[in-house]
Amino acid sequence: MKNKILVTGGAGYIGSHTCIALHEAGYDIVVYDNLSNSSHEAMNRISNLIGKPIEFIEGDIRDSESLKKVFADHQFFGVIHFAGLKAVGESVAKPLMYYNNNVSGTITLLEVMTEYNVKRLVFSSSATVYGDPETLPIDESSKRSCTNPYGQSKLVVEHILEDLAVSDSDWNLITLRYFNPVGAHSSGQIGEDPNDIPNNLMPYISQVAVGKLSQLNIFGNDYATIDGTGVRDFIHVTDLAQGHVAALNYLEQQNSALGFLPINLGTGTGTSVLELVTAFSEVSGQKIPYQFADRRAGDIASCYASADKAQSLLGWQAKLSITEMCQDTWRWQSMNPHGYDTV
Ligand code: NAD
Ligand code: UD1
Repeated sequence: MKNKILVTGGAGYIGSHTCIALHEAGYDIVVYDNLSNSSHEAMNRISNLIGKPIEFIEGDIRDSESLKKVFADHQFFGVIHFAGLKAVGESVAKPLMYYNNNVSGTITLLEVMTEYNVKRLVFSSSATVYGDPETLPIDESSKRSCTNPYGQSKLVVEHILEDLAVSDSDWNLITLRYFNPVGAHSSGQIGEDPNDIPNNLMPYISQVAVGKLSQLNIFGNDYATIDGTGVRDFIHVTDLAQGHVAALNYLEQQNSALGFLPINLGTGTGTSVLELVTAFSEVSGQKIPYQFADRRAGDIASCYASADKAQSLLGWQAKLSITEMCQDTWRWQSMNPHGYDTV
């Protein structure tokens, strides 16, 4: 068995897929999650897929006493830190909740890590920190700016990590900036399970396809893009999970500390909203009724990554196609029309 890793937010969408990838890569994992946006059922299914129970601790990253107990009980090589709130609209309505959870929670985690001398972190950041990009593809040196509290919370944490690296050269702080994660595990057992009506495109499309929602609103058809609809860099969650394994492998190879290291995880290719709708319809054999609606406030026309740094440093590259992203999403959605509540 390789090193032991603490996975905060490991019961969530990206965390659950990463737990499987980490297990397959030989890591020993402990999941710490308050289940605010996930469920015991997700943990059960991860355990079933890997064929053994996973150590799970129900706890909040803002609870330093609970975290200290976890660090006292285990000798961690490092932490993968997914725990956070992620809904942009909700963050505008409840900014304090977002800063408290995402920023204060991360500070508490970093304080406990410092106390227990665990100084390797893989942090879930987002392409949202690039705001409206000046050039495409977006590389890691691009200017950062955010327009909503969710994005700000990611940016503030990035600044905290940068300051921490300056203050203490022992830290290894890999910050993975995800582009648009979609898809599900190929078994159809785990996937994205939004609480209410989805905000994001892929879960919305799949809920229309399965008949839970009547039609998709496409926000804007007058952008300067291939067909007027928004363009994004959709990345399969399984590829994303492998990116975390690659980041840990990289940390294991280092003889000296890395400081703050931001790395994009994207495919490098943009796909338009209409192209994704067409691909999903072909794969699922379902009609996806849609209508064009006004642009969504805060949206940008196009966003896709330069994925060169991930390839050169981590030896990681996304492998799965848009078709596979749609196939796996459809398998998950059709097998679990009500997500983890499906009996
Ligand atoms: P998710 O909501 O499915 O998973 C987050 C998990 O963290 C959930 O299981 C939730 O219960 C847990 N959590 C939240 N607050 C917590 C707290 N205070 N203490 C303990 N656990 C807590 O989200 P996801 O899509 O898996 O995203 C994981 C991370 O990646 C988040 O930090 C998110 O901001 C970031 N990210 C996600 C996307 C995306 O599109 N999904 C894109 C870019 C970045
Ligand atoms: C959104 C967030 C971003 C977050 C990311 C992943 C905003 C402004 N940005 O990114 O901060 O990191 O999710 O969680 O919310 N679309 C439709 N109809 C829909 C839903 C989406 O046409 O019902 C379009 C959008 O206008 C956009 C594209 O689909 O052009 C992708 O949208 P979405 O999946 O929400 O992701 P982002 O906006 O890229």
